[in-house]
Order: sequence, then C-alpha cells, then structure tokens
Amino acid sequence: MTAIKAYAASSKEADLKPFDIERRDVQENDVKIDILYCGVCHSDLHQVRNDWKNSKYPVVPGHEIIGKVLEVGSSVSNFKEGDLVGVGCMVDSCKTCGSCQDDLEQFCENGATMTYNSNDKHMGGHTFGGYSESIVVDKDFVLRIPKNLDLKAAAPLLCAGITTYSPLAHWKIKKGDKVGVIGLGGLGHMGIKFAHAMGAHTVMITTSPDKSEDAKKLGADEVLISKNEEDMKKHAGSFDFLLNTIPVGHDMNPYVNLLKRDANMVIVGAVEPLDPLHGGGLIMGRKSIAGSLIGGIKETQEMLDFCGEHNVVCDIEMINIQDINDAYDRLQKSDVKYRFVIDMKSLKDS
Ligand SMILES: NC(=O)c1ccc[n+]([C@@H]2O[C@H](COP(=O)([O-])OP(=O)(O)OC[C@H]3O[C@@H](n4cnc5c(N)ncnc54)[C@H](OP(=O)(O)O)[C@@H]3O)[C@@H](O)[C@H]2O)c1
Ligand SMILES: [Zn+2]
Ligand SMILES: [Zn+2]
Repeated sequence: MTAIKAYAASSKEADLKPFDIERRDVQENDVKIDILYCGVCHSDLHQVRNDWKNSKYPVVPGHEIIGKVLEVGSSVSNFKEGDLVGVGCMVDSCKTCGSCQDDLEQFCENGATMTYNSNDKHMGGHTFGGYSESIVVDKDFVLRIPKNLDLKAAAPLLCAGITTYSPLAHWKIKKGDKVGVIGLGGLGHMGIKFAHAMGAHTVMITTSPDKSEDAKKLGADEVLISKNEEDMKKHAGSFDFLLNTIPVGHDMNPYVNLLKRDANMVIVGAVEPLDPLHGGGLIMGRKSIAGSLIGGIKETQEMLDFCGEHNVVCDIEMINIQDINDAYDRLQKSDVKYRFVIDMKSLKDS
C-alpha cells in the first residue's frame, strides 16, 4: 500500500480539506495512474452534501480523471508506463452478469464499483476518487485518450461527455432532428456540442438569458429561455428529442409540452423525486420520458474516439485544488463556464 495526498469532505457540512489515503499495490490486472487533471462534476457536489442519502465519509470525489500510467500488473498488455489515459465513473464491475456481457457495466446487476463512494473490494472500506495524486484501476476500466485532444479539456469527457453522448447515440439522433438540451452546465454544454456534431438542429433550453451568446458559440442553432412562456409556446410540439440535465427535482410538464408526437425526453440530472407529472401530457401524443446513466466502457471509448475525430473537447476553467470549495459554491449557483478542472500539480506541490 502507498499513502498519498487527497482532498476529502468529512461530513455533509464540511469543506473539502487535505486528507491522506492509501492506494493498493498493483495487482496482476491493475494499472496505476499518476493523476494530472480531474474534472469537477455536479455529482461530486451532490455526494459531498449527501443529497442522494448514500454518501460514505470521508468522501474523496472525482470521476473525470486524466493521468499518466506509472506501473502495470503482470497480466496487462494493452497499457504501458507513460501512456496517457482516462478513468471515468467506474473502476470495476462483476464482468459476468447480463449487463456486463452487454457492455453496460454501469447497470451491473451485482453493482459496479464506482470510482468513489462504492465498496472497495480490495482494500475494504469505500473507494476514493480523483481528487488525489494517483489511482489504481482494473485494466478493463482504463480509457485511451486520442492524441490530438488537449488533456485538460478532455478530462470532463469521462463523465459529462459520456453521459450526454450515450443517450444521443442510443436514441439514434441524426441529421435534421430537432434536439433540445436543457441546462447549460457541464453536461449541457457537451450535449450541445455532441448534438451539433451529429447534425441535429440544436436548441439550448436555459434559465439563464446571459448564457445565450455562449450557447451559440458552443453550437446551438437557437436558444430558448425556459422562463419565457411565449417562447415556450412557440416551440410547443416541435422537438424530436430532449436531453434534460437539470440537477434537482423540477416540473417536467412544460418540457413534455415541447415534445412532438412519439418523441422522448431523457432525464440524466435529477436523481431525486420529480414534481407530479400530468399523464395527459404523455397520452396526448404518445410521448415518453426515459432515464440514462453515464455509459459503458466500450461506448466511453467510442465517445472518446468520436471526440478525437471531430475535435470535440470541453470548455473549462482550470483551478487549483485549494480553490475547490469556492468552485463548489459557484457550481451550486450555476456559475461555471462550463466545467471546472483541477490541475493536480497543485496537490502534489502542496
Ligand atoms: N445520469 C448520469 O449518468 C449523470 C452523470 C453525471 C452527472 N449527472 C447529474 O447531472 C446533473 C447535471 O450535472 P452538471 O455537472 O452538468 O451540473 P451543472 O454544471 O451544475 O449544470 C446544471 C445546469 O442546470 C441548470 N439548472 C440548475 N438548477 C436548475 C433549476 N432549479 N431549474 C432549471 N435549471 C436548472 C443550470 O443551467 P442554466 O443556467 O442553463 O439553466 C445549470 O448550469 C447533476 O445532477 C449531476 O449529478 C448525472
Ligand atoms: Zn459526473
Ligand atoms: Zn455485472
């Protein structure tokens, strides 16, 4: 075992502070990674604040990890020391259940091991994430980063990227579809970039009029301010697909009203009760609401390769780890353009 530096929250009221953790020695199937950058997902904030009522303290968040391979186990042939790699939301799964066999490890029927806040099969206790100097991960959960991508800006692809790419790919978004992305934050800005790259007519649906200019620069063809009832009426019944990234429970009825007949809205944000939904909104038009969780490892690699081909990365604000609590305050206020990424050198130098 090796002791390393990390940042952790000790309770839901606590700020993140320096905290030492231990990483296991490299086993035959393991890859040990020196962490260079780690994105800050709104899920990190939810977990630190125990919003989902399942947090295990201390929480060391971080599941948008980019790093360099330090060491590989004896059975690892596809990675070597010095390779630039990524780790997302999962670090292991059972590999044998139906979902794992179908490359959908995020739905592992025996419970995938998430990068943080999951039971740690090797060390006991729970897993610790990427707000740390290094991590040891099963080789099957390590991703390759296309060489042409800026590493810092690629970090959030590991969660924000795959979480928005996967539903757009699963529901086969194609050229000419009218796609709305609800919420311009970390996930939403990637949703816009992907929908645009897939050829859709892309509409940013936001509560923040001041984000309109940026939304267009990111690839939105139109911007719809959700608080503006007149605008919402104009777009009623016109969307082929909606990707809803709102991080809290909310009234979905106005968004369902935007869908065309047979169209679908996918919820990726709110992991909590939603306001009552009027059944008539779905019935009158055979509409659907679905959910989606990150994406499997195979699809995550496919997404990274798509980003390599189309030169898609995230728009980021770099921070030092010492600024993480201020970053959380800004994230809570929807004030980030459009993803914070931690330069982990600031932890190593501290
Ligand atoms: N399903 C999954 O696999 C998965 C994966 C990663 C993250 N998540 C979850 O997805 C959510 C979004 O994550 P994120 O990192 O993109 O968060 P974020 O950067 O904070 O962005 C969320 C955006 O939603 C909008 N918003 C916030 N509060 C709102 C409200 N009360 N009503 C309407 N709109 C609101 C804001 O955009 P505007 O200013 O444009 O309105 C905000 O910028 C989080 O809950 C996160 O835990 C899910
Ligand atoms: Zn995330
Ligand atoms: Zn499984």
